[in-house]
Amino acid sequence: GSVLPSAADLLRWYDRHRRILPWRALPGQSADAYRVWLSEIMLQQTTVTAVMPYFERFLAAFPDVGALARAPQDRVMALWAGLGYYARARNLHACAQVVAASGGRFPDTVEGLLELPGIGAYTAAAIAAIAFGRPVVPVDGNVERVTTRLFALTDPLPAARKAIARRAMTLNGDALARARPSDFAQALFDLGAGICTPRTPACVLCPWRETCAANRQGIAATLPRRAAK
Ligand code: ADE
Repeated sequence: GSVLPSAADLLRWYDRHRRILPWRALPGQSADAYRVWLSEIMLQQTTVTAVMPYFERFLAAFPDVGALARAPQDRVMALWAGLGYYARARNLHACAQVVAASGGRFPDTVEGLLELPGIGAYTAAAIAAIAFGRPVVPVDGNVERVTTRLFALTDPLPAARKAIARRAMTLNGDALARARPSDFAQALFDLGAGICTPRTPACVLCPWRETCAANRQGIAATLPRRAAK
């Protein structure tokens, strides 16, 4: 058994240290689903720094999902060139066409989002939480690492991945986390990217340092473990 870390501590930290990113809404405002979707597809397998200029160019060329849907495929591929994993761009275009054909609005539930091309469990949860305020926790590599350390989960990846993800999805167990799903999800991303980093986590700066089991045991930097190849 273990105590959940306090959402209040994480959200207070996020309110002070949140990154200003082009797809993020201003504090208290709601985010545009098109921007959130576009950013989440680009951020799969790609860093925030690499994505930023691409995101800006895409938005300038295709200001809404209809504009992207109508664009010729070669134009979309040309703007994507350099980001890699080109299946993402083909699925992006296909997804825009499905959304545009059904009225131009993205589904606002995880289940509805999962039916779209290129949208898997992570991306559906990210869009549902960030754009639509659904109380779900999207589990990417950052959230996986944070969770592994919080509970000092020592079973190695990749076998432990599903169990870690299930644990991560319970992080929003308190009412405050479920009241601010978008901020809670993005606070986890920022914590993983800036504090709970892979090699040398900055535990002294972490809002969860006192409840983090790995930090208390002094083993944060050794987690998550990986099975020997
Ligand atoms: N990685 C994936 N989604 C992100 C987001 N919305 N903000 C920062 N990093 C992310």
